[in-house]
Amino acid sequence: MQDITAFIEQMPKAELHMHIEGVLEPELKLQMAARNGIDLPHDSVDDPAAMYDFDDLPTFLDARYEGDTVLITETDFYDLGMAYYSTVVHENLVYAEIFFDPQAHTTRGVEFSTVIEGLHRAQVDAEQQLGIESHLIMCFLRDLSAESAHEALEQAAPYRDWIIGVGLDSDEHRNPPAKFADVFAAAAAEGYRLTMHCDVDQENSVTHIWQAIDDIGVERIDHGVNALDERALIREFASRRIGQTVCPISNRYVVGESRSRDIKQMLDEGMRPTVNSDDPAYFRGYMNDNLAVAQRDGDLSAEEVGQLMRNAFAMSWTTDSRKRAHLAALDDYLAASTGVDGD
Ligand code: ADE
Ligand code: ZN
Repeated sequence: MQDITAFIEQMPKAELHMHIEGVLEPELKLQMAARNGIDLPHDSVDDPAAMYDFDDLPTFLDARYEGDTVLITETDFYDLGMAYYSTVVHENLVYAEIFFDPQAHTTRGVEFSTVIEGLHRAQVDAEQQLGIESHLIMCFLRDLSAESAHEALEQAAPYRDWIIGVGLDSDEHRNPPAKFADVFAAAAAEGYRLTMHCDVDQENSVTHIWQAIDDIGVERIDHGVNALDERALIREFASRRIGQTVCPISNRYVVGESRSRDIKQMLDEGMRPTVNSDDPAYFRGYMNDNLAVAQRDGDLSAEEVGQLMRNAFAMSWTTDSRKRAHLAALDDYLAASTGVDGD
């Protein structure tokens, strides 16, 4: 009988909600600060772990944006990308859709080209050297203006083929999806796929989720746990097959609990949840840990864990033929893993 931990670890994996700036481990942050001559607050240098101390979305975002300040050169963005791939290859991750926040860098004077060229070079090397397929999703920062989001979309135009979709992140408070309706419409017209954060337990979460799915027409909601708050939303998510990218360990930090019982309910309701790592260096957990937390806290069977992963591959934005190949490999793995202890 196979143990559920080994079953999770060996499973071929995909994630759809991971911010590349969120893979900056404290040690890498210190290295980059040193090589770029950036002075970090004294505490950071004395105690790297203390850099990542927060207990809600705004305090997390403060830490994240402080971390971003060490990212300056194309090599920094390449190294950041490779730090992620070289970690998750050991977790059997084979597919990722990766958020990046260009405005977090261009507002500091780093060129858009520097960011995307470093990330793209890492993607190519990860595919060739490690067999990991990945795609970039450009997120607009919702606490900046809609005009600033339009500028980011314009800056992305020369790199259209390198970016699969657009998203929306940062502080949701008083920054509803509707603020970005025009820029999302412009992105959709250019063929970008659409997703957007609706973080957990925000003011007006339910209204924001309706705006995102009805007024903007996103295919997925990042987090989106509060869709469970309203029966009509549950029905809408199930019937329109809208995805939810849930992040259990991130939830522990931001709202104090992993909300894995909610994942179980989503599965029971016929919705389409997935499990993801969000900002794994900051939240101290990559995919294996997030799946283990979801399984344990949500009391999920091996079959349900397999369904979460099937959802991720099925709602990914790769080509149909690649999607079929990923799903076939996952299904082979699941078929061979009968009698997992913990069911
Ligand atoms: N930026 C990085 N991670 C985020 C999250 N989970 N929510 C909002 N903004 C983010
Ligand atoms: Zn996120």
